[in-house]
Amino acid sequence: MQSNDLPFEKIIFVCTNKRDKGERVSCGREGGCDLRNKMKEMVKARGLKDKVRVSTSGCMDVCEEGPNVMIFPDNVWLARVKEKEAVAIVEAIAESIDSGQPFEAPLRK
Ligand code: FES
Repeated sequence: MQSNDLPFEKIIFVCTNKRDKGERVSCGREGGCDLRNKMKEMVKARGLKDKVRVSTSGCMDVCEEGPNVMIFPDNVWLARVKEKEAVAIVEAIAESIDSGQPFEAPLRK
């Protein structure tokens, strides 16, 4: 085993787990896949691909709160995230990187 520094300044995990109808609710059926795609698009558009990685996540066992996003190394869990909020999230991440301050979620009013 080898221990390394993280290869990105931020890693955004977006749950896209999709269960069949009739099973427990799942992020993938509640917009998680579109959200992941939008986050990737925004990171690319903002020129952050070298610093921010958007990764597909499996179930994080908080399904009823989905779609769920977890951001590291900030240890932030964003619940019930809407696709249209991807821009604000990525912008807040960019500000966090620029300022060197921890990520603060742009919460809805
Ligand atoms: S399906 Fe997303 S947290 Fe379980």
